Amino acid sequence: AIDTVHAREILDSRGNPTVEVDVLLDDGSLGRAAVPSGASTGTAEAVELRDGDAGRYHGKGVRRAVAAVLGEIADAVAGLDGRDQAAVDRTLIELDGTGNKSRLGANATLGVSLAVVKAAAASAGQPLYRYLGGPDAVVLPLPLMNIVNGGAHADNPLDFQEFMIAPIGAATFADAVRMGSEVFHTLRAALQAAGHHTAVGDEGGFAPPLHTAPEALAFIRTAITDSGYTPGVDIAIALDPAASEFYRDGAYHYRGEGRVRTVAEHVDHLAELVEQFPIVSIEDGVAQDDFEGWKLLTERLGGRCQLVGDDVFCTNVELLRDGINRGVANSVLVKVNQVGTLTEMLATVAAARQAGYSVVMSHRSGETEDTTIADLAVATGCGQIKTGSLSRSDRTAKYNQLIRIEEELGERAVYAGARSLAGARP
Ligand code: PGA
Ligand code: ZN
Repeated sequence: AIDTVHAREILDSRGNPTVEVDVLLDDGSLGRAAVPSGASTGTAEAVELRDGDAGRYHGKGVRRAVAAVLGEIADAVAGLDGRDQAAVDRTLIELDGTGNKSRLGANATLGVSLAVVKAAAASAGQPLYRYLGGPDAVVLPLPLMNIVNGGAHADNPLDFQEFMIAPIGAATFADAVRMGSEVFHTLRAALQAAGHHTAVGDEGGFAPPLHTAPEALAFIRTAITDSGYTPGVDIAIALDPAASEFYRDGAYHYRGEGRVRTVAEHVDHLAELVEQFPIVSIEDGVAQDDFEGWKLLTERLGGRCQLVGDDVFCTNVELLRDGINRGVANSVLVKVNQVGTLTEMLATVAAARQAGYSVVMSHRSGETEDTTIADLAVATGCGQIKTGSLSRSDRTAKYNQLIRIEEELGERAVYAGARSLAGARP
């Protein structure tokens, strides 16, 4: 049973405060979880509670969320069975009482929810991925590695937020990491040779002063080739334009390019990029409230490209079901802090599976050294993970954890490769 719940304010990878929770069971087992934070958040995300006290951390303190954990939440979950995750999460949801975690904070509830499952795994003497996923949790995800950052994650002119590589032809997860790292360093040299700086953005990808997506994609394709790999066979490309960030008044405002595209022109542009480059996945290709755009994009590209919904679904099972009914996307991005409990995230994964949508487990642009999502990717067997570039410890920590899991599984480990990509025929 849950004995004590403790919380503290720590720093995330952007140097902003976030919540960390320790849960101690009465058998002495400890679970610890730190909560991530987004920059290009969807409007329907569960609420991340910030103090708004300008005198501390520029208003971003999380003392109220920490106080909620130490007070109300600790009282409510004390004595509950740590193995009954559904009951713990139900208690958190009911105690909050708002439907979007705005009273206690999704940062408070998520910290507790994840710390509880980690304590329960420790109590069972099992690694988290096996405790949660059972003996069949043997699939290592295809990593979508974000090697060029733009949009809200960097201060360069690139309108699209993420340019990722996906080592679909790797033999193992460790191989995929090696291939990604090789391309990352080849790309660094190429950018340098072209006179660009090689400073990195929030997710550890380069943030060169390029103005258009085709320019960035050409650099990436060349880096793949120059590393000795075949684009589209060994390594494919994935995009997250995070289009909600530049959609206004019914049109897409490409500031870096200095032009505005109508919805139809914007979808045409994405379709051209898929023609010209080995792109197998596009996340948030259109904005969360651009219903016409989502319909158009899915009709146009859904048969040959994975179309991942992030802002449009916010890991929310109701929004996902609604999107499935409207034929929006063919894949869902899953960020556990968008809903605020593990149980709700698992419900979203189950609904996606049922509808034949693929699932991509995801970090946030503000992360910590916490590696829980690596285990969650294997536990759910979702087949894909998005956890940033091949630099910055907040990103590589997740890759390193997956390397350890693969090693531990030994012969039983299965690298997902391209098999879990929706819509894509590499
Ligand atoms: P965020 O971005 O964590 O800053 O919201 C990640 C994404 O859009 O996928
Ligand atoms: Zn996204």
